[in-house]
This record gives sequence, C-alpha cells and structure tokens, in this order.
Amino acid sequence: MDIIIVLDFGGQYTHLITRRIRDLGVYSEILPFDVELGKLKKANPKAIILSGGPSSVYEQDSPSLIEGFFQFTSENKIPVLGICYGHHLIMHQIGGKVESKKAKEYGKSSLMIIEPNLLFDSLEKEQIVWMSHGDQITEIAKGFKTYAKTETCPIAAYGNQEKLLYGVQFHPEVSNTPNGNKILENFIYKIADCKKEWKLEEWIDSSIEEIRKKIGSDNKVILGLSGGVDSSVTAVLLHKAIGERLHSIFVNNGVLRKNEEIEVQETFKEKLKFKNFHYIDAEDLFLEKLKDVEDPEEKRRIIGHTFIDVFENKTIELEKTNPDIKFLAQGTIYPDRVETSATSKASVKIKSHHNLTLPDDMMLEIIEPLKDLYKDEVRRIGVKLGVPKEIISRHPFPGPGLAVRIIGPINKEKLTILRNADEILIEEIRNAGIYEQIWQAFCVFLPLRTVGIMGDYRTYEYICSIRIVESTDAMTANFSKLDWELLERIGTRIANEVKGINRVVYDISNKPPSTIEYE
Ligand code: XMP
Repeated sequence: MDIIIVLDFGGQYTHLITRRIRDLGVYSEILPFDVELGKLKKANPKAIILSGGPSSVYEQDSPSLIEGFFQFTSENKIPVLGICYGHHLIMHQIGGKVESKKAKEYGKSSLMIIEPNLLFDSLEKEQIVWMSHGDQITEIAKGFKTYAKTETCPIAAYGNQEKLLYGVQFHPEVSNTPNGNKILENFIYKIADCKKEWKLEEWIDSSIEEIRKKIGSDNKVILGLSGGVDSSVTAVLLHKAIGERLHSIFVNNGVLRKNEEIEVQETFKEKLKFKNFHYIDAEDLFLEKLKDVEDPEEKRRIIGHTFIDVFENKTIELEKTNPDIKFLAQGTIYPDRVETSATSKASVKIKSHHNLTLPDDMMLEIIEPLKDLYKDEVRRIGVKLGVPKEIISRHPFPGPGLAVRIIGPINKEKLTILRNADEILIEEIRNAGIYEQIWQAFCVFLPLRTVGIMGDYRTYEYICSIRIVESTDAMTANFSKLDWELLERIGTRIANEVKGINRVVYDISNKPPSTIEYE
C-alpha cells in the first residue's frame, strides 16, 4: 500500500495533514523531522510532506532536513511538498533566501495563481487560503518557478517539476483554505501518482485476520473496558476475531456517571452477547482511597494506581482457570502513540492514567489493534462493526471521571448531587437535538454554599457549574453560545430537582486560557 510520510517540524496542524491525506484515500504516517535516514528509507514513502513549525529557518539550531534527504528523494523520484516552515526549509537548503518580514500574514488571504502547474490543477486563478507566518521567501532558487503570490507575499507557492520539490506558504490542510483538499489531492494523485488504497472496510478484514494470526487458535486475551469509544471498538473487533477467548474487565471505580455501570453491562452482555465480561464493583475501595484528597493530580494518581491493582488482581484470578491468557489488549489510537511537538504536552497528561504496567512475571504481550487509526476512523469502524450509537457518539469522559469534576475532596453525597445534575443537563441537551454538535457538555460541582429561597424557606446549598464546549480536537475549545431559553430550562430544572443545589452558573471560558475540565 502506498504511504505518505509527514515529517513533523513542530507545527500545530501536523496530525491534521495526515488525517486529510487518509481521508483522501492514501495511508499516511508522521515521523519526526530528525528521523534516521535508514528509517525513512524503510518506510518506503511514495511522497513526503514537510509540516509547518514555529521556528525560523535562518536561526541557529532550527530544525533542518536530515543529511542525505534530497539525495534520497531525487534518486527515488519521491515528490516533496513543504508547508509553511517546510516551504521555507526546502528553499533555504537549496539556494533560495528566507527573511523575516514586517508585514506578517495571519488569517485568510487571497492567493493569485500566476503560473499553470499540477499542484493547482483545475483551480480558479484566485483562491482563499489560510496564512500564518512572519517569515517569507524573498529569493527563489535556480530551476524553481513561482506558482502563486498574495499581496504581501510574492512567492507564496513554488515548484520544480524536474526535482519534484514543491512548497506552499499557506495551510492547505485547514478548513479555512476551502480548496485545500483539492491541492493535497493534486499532490498525492497527480504529482505523486499514489493509488487510492486506504479503505476502512478492507482495514477491518485485514485487521481481523492479523489479530487471529497473532493470537493463534488457543490463546486468550484480556482487555480493560471503560465503555469509551476506543476500548469499546477494540473489544468488538477482538470479539469478532476470537469470540469468547476475549475476557473483558469493566471496573466500577465509583466515579462513573449515573447508571453507567448498568448501561455498559447491558450493552456488552445483552446486546453484543459478550460471554466473558467481568464486572468488578470497586466503588468502596476507590472512594476510601480518595477520601479527603484535594489535589487533582493526586486524585488522578490514586485512581490510576487503584485501577491497575484491581485489574491485576482480577487478571491473576482469571489466569488460574485460564492459563492460556497470553495477551493484554489496549485501545491505544494513533494520536496517543505519536506525539507531535504540538500534542505532546496535552497527551502526556491525558495518558498518565492509561498506562497499564502489569508485573513482568505476567508476561502478557500487548496487542493494540487501533494503534494506527485516528478517532474519526475508529468511530467509522465502530459503526461498521455494529457498536451501538450511544457509545460511538458519546462525549469524551476523563479516565478519573467525576473525581475531577468535583472541586476538592469527593464523597458519596457530592457524587450523587453531581450525577443527578449531569443527568438533567444531558437529557435537555439531547432533547434539544444538539448533543452531537457539541464536543462536551457536563456539570461541575463547586463546593461553595450560597443562599437561596425555596417556598418560604431560606436555603444554603452548593453551586453547579455548567460546562458546554465546542471543539474539534480538545486542543482549543470555545464555550457554546446556547439558546437562553434552553439554558434557563436547564438551570431551573437543576436548581429545582437536584437536592443540594440552589444555584447554577454557566461557564463562558474558552480554552485557552481555561481548560475544558476544572481539575
Ligand atoms: P482539558 O481539561 O485539558 O481536557 O482541556 C482536554 C480533553 O481531555 C480530557 N481529559 C482527560 N481525559 N484523563 C482522560 O482520559 C484525564 O485525566 C483527562 N483530563 C482531561 C477532557 O475531558 C477533554 O476532552
């Protein structure tokens, strides 16, 4: 299968480039800019894309192309497309000039195509493109042609058809460049001559075959199932491949949403007919360990460690009667595994509770069937495999659950209040038909008591904060500008129906500077 390698120079859109290429039908992966040449050769790319990045090519120690890069691409006739920083880098290393300019360009710009070429094939002469740069090319190298310009950027795209080197100053991968996909399509099909081979249906068949081959005909697999999209799709895929030889463990950690433990059991045991589904009620253990704990990172640590203990104990118990449990399956997906410079900070934190380290003497081999997929691909595969819609379209829910949505120490009383409020919020959001347009909607328990009035009585109760955000990848998020009447209905219902709450506030913070969760 043809593969396009994206070399990561630290740009915030690196994962987006790969996703776009895959959506267009060609498999794509990210490698760091300083990857060893041998590894790059081994990947056998049909084309290479150089991502954007925050540096300036003329600065000392700025990331550059590895030695032998151009020799490798020219000898093997591998086309290269530089985007933003990548666009500067090709020129900088091949005889052109890049300089910092006073007139920086951020946002939408009008691009004029001045030279007919394959990259912009079948596009109108004038295009709207998304720019984000302070540097620009001021002198083009010999043998290159300027393909396009903007009012302040005379060399906004270039190419050298013989050398198969191309560059664009703007970002074709973002949706603010309306014809960006067409440009990428031209690059991968018309210039790089790739075949359209990346199809999810075929992925399912070959993945099932691969799983069966890896696991063999007798061995068994153990999996920690959270009920989230990734672990659920992993479970269903494995179940399809090896049936009852899959043992799934679902731990009630005491900080789940209302009725979640019942719904997950119903889905897997009844709807999907999982036989070896093990439910462990560890609520009391978790709540005891979390008692009086205030610090959010400490809560995360305790929940992560306790989960591992519970999971390990169950695995040891199961191994007594199933000595052929030889594999541990995990729902790792591509962005969890491949950290670009732009995602590493966030994902290190998010993953801290995911990393299951079982003792060495257990000798379980890890199997991660979704490790090369993006979230939207996992969802599409889930739909094809028959994973229920409630699971596929469910909002993300943090591993440490409601523990990080109650500020300060948690206890059963606060958890009940929060669960009841959250249930009303989700019900109203679903009834309004907007659940699927929203990234996340949830309630947060603020341990502050304020005065209220109910009938003839003065009340002194807690505050519930409502957090509803829109986002595409959780890296940035905007608060949702909900209809006032809907907000009023939610607020009134929570204050009236949830015992313990007499005031509801709506969070109007964006990320950054705030985060989505409160802890
Ligand atoms: P923040 O709060 O950092 O959240 O803006 C970004 C996304 O990550 C989720 N999140 C977590 N997920 N374990 C998880 O599995 C965690 O500890 C965790 N903290 C935040 C959050 O719900 C949002 O979607």
